[in-house]
Amino acid sequence: MTDQNHLRPLIAANWKMHGDMSWIEKLYEFEDIFPAAERVNIDILICPPAPLIFPMMERCGGKDIWLGAQNCHADENGAHTGDLSAEMLESVGADYVIVGHSERRALGETDADVYAKAKACARAELIPIICVGESLAQREAGQALSVVEAQITGSVPEIADYVIAYEPVWAIGTGKVPTLKDIADMHAAIRAQLGPDIRILYGGSVKPANADGILSVPHVNGALIGGAGLQMESLATIARFAVERK
Ligand code: 13P
Repeated sequence: MTDQNHLRPLIAANWKMHGDMSWIEKLYEFEDIFPAAERVNIDILICPPAPLIFPMMERCGGKDIWLGAQNCHADENGAHTGDLSAEMLESVGADYVIVGHSERRALGETDADVYAKAKACARAELIPIICVGESLAQREAGQALSVVEAQITGSVPEIADYVIAYEPVWAIGTGKVPTLKDIADMHAAIRAQLGPDIRILYGGSVKPANADGILSVPHVNGALIGGAGLQMESLATIARFAVERK
């Protein structure tokens, strides 16, 4: 379990299914561009494909860059071919696990599944990043706030430490982002639902060009970044905005 202050900004890169062993070099690159002195007031998290967690953990050593997985199974072990438990991920160096990403919900993962996975993370002393977000049809029907509220009710177990990532499905990988007012309204609603101690990230087409505005919105405690998190220059630029704005 990490001992961070929950409302320190958290900048998380979700590498999705990108990378190979040569990408471990990106840690060196990032440390050069965004040195330790700059990382004092921010948590930087990289969620690589699972096979890279252990070699990256060996490389991180002192652990001032956190590592995370992108999914886990709810059980500790069992006959689940191809799956990984939270305990396994913890044992190879993960600190966080993204659960309920919309790309997994699209494969059939339900709120109840996400709830069980988040609970498994707590059992393994990992911090789940629980993803929620509405579809375009739901936003256009004026249902975004109620959809996300219901997802949180169904997906968040009673555990001490977790992070919420609000990722509108229609903003992921599309270059489209909600207005800053819509982000502010959503984050204020999530804050009202979950209280003062939970970090709430925004995700969906966060880039260096829009990060300053997004990270200035009240109750945005960081970002979950896909495409721009594959480039260390972009990640560092976004992280710098997070430090400046908070
Ligand atoms: P993009 O930043 O590529 O839109 O992806 C967001 C995301 O899905 C992060 O989990």
